[in-house]
Amino acid sequence: MKDNAESYVTTDGRTIGPVVMEMKNITLRFGGVEAIKDISFDIREGEIRAIIGPNGAGKSSMLNVISGFYVPQEGEVWYKGARRPPMKPYEVAQQGIARTFQNIALFEGMSVLDNVMTGRLTHMKTGMLSQMIWRGAAEREEVANREVAERIIDFLEIQAIRKTPVARLPYGLKKRVELARALAAEPSILLLDEPMAGMNVEEKEDMSRFILDVNDEFGTTIALIEHDMGVVMDLSDRVVVMDYGKKIGDGTPHEVRNNQAVIDAYLGVAHDEEDAT
Ligand SMILES: Nc1ncnc2c1ncn2[C@@H]1O[C@H](COP(=O)(O)OP(=O)(O)OP(=O)(O)O)[C@@H](O)[C@H]1O
Ligand SMILES: [Mg+2]
Repeated sequence: MKDNAESYVTTDGRTIGPVVMEMKNITLRFGGVEAIKDISFDIREGEIRAIIGPNGAGKSSMLNVISGFYVPQEGEVWYKGARRPPMKPYEVAQQGIARTFQNIALFEGMSVLDNVMTGRLTHMKTGMLSQMIWRGAAEREEVANREVAERIIDFLEIQAIRKTPVARLPYGLKKRVELARALAAEPSILLLDEPMAGMNVEEKEDMSRFILDVNDEFGTTIALIEHDMGVVMDLSDRVVVMDYGKKIGDGTPHEVRNNQAVIDAYLGVAHDEEDAT
């Protein structure tokens, strides 16, 4: 057994930190459908943790449990050493967990900068009333938030489109703006639901580089869902494999690639749809 409180070096040679989040025996049902069946796994500080599996395996549902969007019928979520009570998504966000969506969720009519600024909402302390009474504090906060947003925009190399309405952007750039919005929250854990879906090879390479840079430069812990096995192998420190709501594998990219249950699950399912896009 690995010590939860200690860093360790994986068999692939990467050092990952102590456990920061632990899912314990999570079961999630929608009516008669069991989307997640008794799944346990942990996320360690500073790692890139991939969640993979065929369509309908329960991957997005799992990310939605982590983000507080769904409350599982059974099981416990532990965060930073304490059991997390059922929480609303905004409360989870306030604890430093930010996310992007499988289907892009941006304000299409708003500029890139304004969309990224919405990522700062969890950090805004001055409420509407105090903004009216005490303009100075609100203005200082606005300036500070704008600085963070601009820094993220520079980091993701989208300065040239900062004033452009999101609706006018190609798909690959919208995905990057969504990442920028999530990063603007300065999260300690970043959840990415298929950040590279629908991208061409070049866009995927860019996005992979940005994900690695975020992990390196900010030390952000990242949990991501991805179908492209090449990307998963390149990016992740450890991988959870799901199939029909069950966990069928958990380990380094090398370990899961040689896991027979994982091989069977993937051979049984055609992933041509993803490959063609
Ligand atoms: N809100 C919901 N209501 C009812 N059933 C749901 C809901 N969300 C997910 N499901 C069901 O739960 C199962 C898991 O879905 P989920 O979206 O988590 O899979 P996934 O692994 O993310 O798949 P994909 O790769 O296609 O995105 C599916 O059978 C799905 O139909
Ligand atoms: Mg999904």
